[in-house]
Order: sequence, then C-alpha cells, then structure tokens
Amino acid sequence: MDAPHVVLLPFPAQGHIKPMLVLAQLLCHGGSFNITFVNTEHNHRRLLNLIDQPAFSRRFPTLQFMSIPDGLQPEHPRAGPSAVDLFFSTSSVSKPEFRNLIVSLSQEPTCIIADGIMSFAVDVADELGIPVITFRTYSATCTWVYFHLQKLIQNGEIPVLQGNEDMDKQISCIPGLENVLRRRDLPSICKLEPDSPILQFYIAQASKMTRASALILNTFQELESPMITHLQSIFPTVYTIGPLHSLLNSVIIDAPSENSSSLIEMDESCIKWLDSQHPKSVLYVSFGSVIVLSHDQLLEFWHGLVNSGKPFLWAIRPDLILGHNGPNKIPEELKRATKEMGCIVSWAPQEDVLAHQAIGGFLTHSGWNSTLESISSGVPMICWPMIVDQQVNSRCVSEVWKVGVDMKDTCDRSTVEKLVRDVMENKIEECKESTMKNSRLANDSIHEGGSSHDNIKRLVLDIISIHSRKNAVTKEIMSH
Ligand code: UDX
Repeated sequence: MDAPHVVLLPFPAQGHIKPMLVLAQLLCHGGSFNITFVNTEHNHRRLLNLIDQPAFSRRFPTLQFMSIPDGLQPEHPRAGPSAVDLFFSTSSVSKPEFRNLIVSLSQEPTCIIADGIMSFAVDVADELGIPVITFRTYSATCTWVYFHLQKLIQNGEIPVLQGNEDMDKQISCIPGLENVLRRRDLPSICKLEPDSPILQFYIAQASKMTRASALILNTFQELESPMITHLQSIFPTVYTIGPLHSLLNSVIIDAPSENSSSLIEMDESCIKWLDSQHPKSVLYVSFGSVIVLSHDQLLEFWHGLVNSGKPFLWAIRPDLILGHNGPNKIPEELKRATKEMGCIVSWAPQEDVLAHQAIGGFLTHSGWNSTLESISSGVPMICWPMIVDQQVNSRCVSEVWKVGVDMKDTCDRSTVEKLVRDVMENKIEECKESTMKNSRLANDSIHEGGSSHDNIKRLVLDIISIHSRKNAVTKEIMSH
C-alpha cells in the first residue's frame, strides 16, 4: 500500500507558514507520509531561496513544495496594513488555482490540512470528496473568541470605539471568558464597523471552518484546557499539538534549524553577542513579521529601553518603521547608548535567542508563535499588542497565565522603562513562579506521555486510518 498523502495549505504569512511547515516535517517523519506543501508563488520563492534545499530534501525526501498565485501584483508589499488584501485575493484567485493543483497531483490526497483563514480549501475538498482538517494558528482562547464575532455585534460590543467609551468594561457574552476580557482586549478587528468586509471575512471563515472534520491548534492542553473543551462543542476532534517548535526538536533529533521555515534571512551574529552577556541580563525585543511602528512609537520604545539601563537585543525588520526612514533619524544619544548596551539585528534566530541563558525578558507584540516560544523557554513577557489576536494573547499572558505584563494602548518611554525594570529585576513575584511552571508544563506536553506528544501520534494514526478506508473502498470498486 502506498503512503498517505497530505496536502498542507498555510495562509501566506510568516506566522502561519512556520507552524504549518513544522507540522509537515512531523507528519513526514512520524508517519512517513507523502507531503505536498502549497505556498503562494511569492513565498515559495522566498522560502526556497533561504532553505538549504539539498539538506532539507535528504532529511524529508517525501516532502515536496508547490505553489499557486496569490492574485496580487508583483510589486504589492504583502505586509503591514495592506496584508489584508491577501484575504480577498486568495479567496478569489488562489481558490481555482488550488483546485487545479489538487486534481493535477499524481497521487490523490488522503486529506487536506488548511489554515483556518484559507477556508476556500473546504469548498475545494468538499467538491472533490477529500477530507479536510482545519489548522488555526491562533491560541484556543482567541479561536473561541472568533466564533463569537456575530454575537459581539448583536450585543452592541462591535465596533469598539476607542476613547469614546469605557474600554475596561467586561465582555460578558463569550462563555468561559466573562471575567477575563475587557473591551480593550477584543481582537483589533472588533474596532471595525459590523459591515466591514474584513470583519465579515473573519465571520465567514469561522463559519466555513466548522465544516472541517477536525481542528488542529498550536497550543497545549495544560495551558488552555477550558477553551479547548469549549471548542470541542464545535469540532468533534481537536488536536492540540503545541508548542510545535519544541515538539519538532523533541521528536526529531536532527531537526532542521528554525532557519528552514523563515521567509527572512536570520542574523546569527547576535548569539555571539548574547554569549558575552550575564545570565538573564538581556531584554529581547521583537514585534514579529507584520506590524509596523510609527517613528514616534519607535523613539518612545528606544528611549524607554535605554533609560531602563538594561542591555537589549532588538530585531528591527527593514520594513518595521512606517515610511522606512526610522533608523536614519535616531538621536545621537540613543545611537551612542545602543552601541554600549545594545545589539540590533534585522531578523534574529528567535527560538535560539529565547532559549539563551542571557535572556531575562521579552518585549513582544504578542503574536501567538512568539508567545508560545516565550512560554516554552520560561521568559517573562512585556506585551505590546497591536492587531488581530494579539490583544487577546496579551490579556491571557498577564491575567490568566500570569507570565508577563500587558502595556496595551500605552506607548510612552516612562512606562517602557518601568516595565522593563519590573520584569528584568523580578519585581513581579507571581510572574516568576508562573513562568517557570508554564515552561515546565509546555516541556512535559511535548515529551513521551505528554498531551501534545500523544496528540500528534493520534493525528498520524487517524490519517492512516482515513487512508486505509479510502484504499479499501477503491479496492472494492475495482473488484466489481
Ligand atoms: C502573525 C500575527 O501577528 C500573529 O498575531 C498571529 O498569531 C500569527 O500571524 P507574526 O506577527 O509574525 O504573526 O508574529 P508571531 O506569531 O509571533 O510569529 C513570528 C515568528 O517569527 C515567530 O515564530 C518567531 O520565532 C519568528 N521570528 C520573529 C524570528 O525568527 N526572528 C525575528 O527576529 C522575529
């Protein structure tokens, strides 16, 4: 019997491609599956430019990369505020291209695993009679919140009008989160008008996702148990298999480095700089791959970091600053202080950085991958969320898991300075204990006998059983 064939379709952004590609490697390794990983043409080129292709193919000989157009012009930035164009272009242009690709494959897919915001794959899979599993790259908590957007509209909570109302009012219409979320903690899309195409896009995606046979989440049972139970009322099967980056390293001893799932070239030189710093003395700063800062925000962070007196490592992407003129207009005193106490790179090997003994804190935009990587490494966070799921993640970090502090909706140098000191000098006793506890739980979950370790095995077995059933039906048909 041939091996099962799984097609994976991520949303075309770094924070979505990375966990999906890790899953592809785990399926290739654990189930010896044939894998077709479908990127947009734009990201296909970027990824294959950076990956060590011969080494990768030797390690995963049954994993092939294919691509489809994303429907945008070549010069489109595909980042920052205009990244939302991808929602509409993928749904219209990539959908028929994806269908054509599936029917052209020499081996019919056993199943498709598609990102939760690439739900057009559910239509394609239904039409072709292929089972589909949805992979939502957000936390379980945020995934649950996205299933209540319509209810939030009905209850008058959307749009959240910042400045015009009590932003600290509790949200009471999402079961299980009654005492957790305030208006300011709702996903950024809740600031949009109810009929906004972007908000309506997310509502439609959530609804279409429910037609999938199962849900995969990059989280672990012990972190979000109540929310996972809620999601089981929508999906009969939920596989929580996170933190995926640690699971990969625990299951595959010679796993490729994080470099092989990056769309941006990593500057490894910062590891040498970290080697020269004292244990837990350095604050790592990164705002992920999508958000942009105004020049004023950049300066407030920069002054706050320098005034805190703590060494810092900052990943400043070339397109992080709105208008691209940021670093050229930095006051001399900041440049001087940074030379003495800081290190700036454009893109860091973040997993290695967070695992480095010199790191004592993480100033983050609270993207879900960054949050999980920090929890795993036991690094306390200072959260400055901006878009999509980040507002929810930062609230959970500070109020539910107590592994950091949340500075959402503020951006001034004195707050940055104070919070950096509080976190780096361990002034928040509760945070220190919870950080260690959650890191231990994360690590337990990915080892033999742990929840995520068991769940990835269950996922592999379930795909094998779909494959065997399909083969049995084919045999039956052939014998008549
Ligand atoms: C986006 C959204 O912002 C996020 O909220 C959502 O959960 C996923 O999609 P992104 O902004 O890229 O993601 O943030 P995040 O989810 O944290 O992913 C960033 C990834 O890039 C992380 O895995 C991190 O390790 C990696 N990274 C980041 C680097 O490798 N180097 C860096 O310098 C910065």
